[in-house]
Amino acid sequence: MANKPIKITETVLRDAHQSLIATRMPTELMLPILEKMDKVGYHSVECWGGATFDASLRFLKEDPWERLRKIKDGLKNTPTQMLFRGQNILGYRHYADDVVYKFVEKSIANGIDIIRIFDCFNDLRNLQAAVDATNKIKQQEGRGHSQIALSYTLGDAYTMEYWMKMAKDIEEMGADSICIKDMAGLLVPYKAGELVSAMKSATKLPIQLHTHYTSGVASMTYLKAVEAGVDVIDCAISPFSMGTSQPATEVMVETFKGTEYDTGFDQNLLAEIADYFRPYREECLANGLMNSKVLGADIKTLLYQVPGGMLSNMVSQLKEQNAEDKYMEVLQEIPKVRKDLGEPPLVTPSSQIVGTQAVFNVLMGERYKMATDQTKDVLRGKYGQTVKPFDAEVQKKVIGDEEPITCRPADKIANELDKIESEMKEWKQQEEDVLSYALFPQVAIDFFKYRQAQQEKVDMNKADSKNGAYPV
Ligand code: CO
Repeated sequence: MANKPIKITETVLRDAHQSLIATRMPTELMLPILEKMDKVGYHSVECWGGATFDASLRFLKEDPWERLRKIKDGLKNTPTQMLFRGQNILGYRHYADDVVYKFVEKSIANGIDIIRIFDCFNDLRNLQAAVDATNKIKQQEGRGHSQIALSYTLGDAYTMEYWMKMAKDIEEMGADSICIKDMAGLLVPYKAGELVSAMKSATKLPIQLHTHYTSGVASMTYLKAVEAGVDVIDCAISPFSMGTSQPATEVMVETFKGTEYDTGFDQNLLAEIADYFRPYREECLANGLMNSKVLGADIKTLLYQVPGGMLSNMVSQLKEQNAEDKYMEVLQEIPKVRKDLGEPPLVTPSSQIVGTQAVFNVLMGERYKMATDQTKDVLRGKYGQTVKPFDAEVQKKVIGDEEPITCRPADKIANELDKIESEMKEWKQQEEDVLSYALFPQVAIDFFKYRQAQQEKVDMNKADSKNGAYPV
């Protein structure tokens, strides 16, 4: 019966805990369950990305590279997957190509199999270096898969023709697969069926669908997408599913049981994995790390087409200014700013840029009387090209007669790895430390100091003080 089994990526070690508990799951909680997860037959386990990397260093005081090595050690039969922000890598600025190449090389060397790469403008030029870097390693080592993720959004420019052309272009640029990345839960079921069919007709590459339950339609969206031929869906084991996370793995497995899409997964094994994570969920609910607010269906997401996280940011910005009464006004300003800036998808960092500028426009009483540095950089072309042109009048008002760049932004950035290394070499204990520092300079230094203090403490305990001998 199972002639086209649907494949599943399990997100509990990355997006699920990023979405529900601010990325705070520590490595030691992940390790004991890996052996069982490795037996399920997942297409992949997503376990690494920008927020997990940042939170490891910043809050958990863990080396993210060490986490990756330990996870790969436990997942011997299952491909591991990471999320990669194109030319931003895992950080917040554009990096030179040599940093992108080195990061890809080290990610694969430390255990990553599939690299999912996205750009907030869907500007494929910002993704080419990461794809090329992955292909280079694949040729040398026989490992490494590059997946381009298109940030899904709505708007005049985002027609079926747009998505079909993107699928074709991605195939041409040498990526191994495509992901439709619906970070806000905007993709509704029937639309998903249409979109997958259209993209499937345009490319032979496998297509994976990633969505969030935020607006409450996600499992129906998966059903229609699977019927339309999608190859892989992203799910989270039940204790870390739904709400702002993904549909539950067990539910999707059961949905397709006995059909041509049957995964063949063992529900008893999945139940054991769920049993393992459930007490941790209870603990997170009790200590407030998991807020029941993110567990329901947020209809505002569908109504205003604004990601949930962006709305909560906006509310706190207005609160700070004692301007909560301006909520509706800002909500109406967001789509206008988005149009002025070329109608980009709203995902990190474009979501913050558009949201903050909309707040400014309303509070200042005049549009673009004040523009943030990020808005200026968008209009200077420094984030890349948007699907529609920028509004010429707004551009003129914000950057004056400055000549915007039209090339790939990283073409303006000289190789910088040597310089970065020279800034931090006193802390370097492994090559990967240079990359941690490149992405999060201050946070990495704090972590290196902490690590050194821990090591010295340990060494002091081992020291043979009588003979004055110290282990090195
Ligand atoms: Co996501």
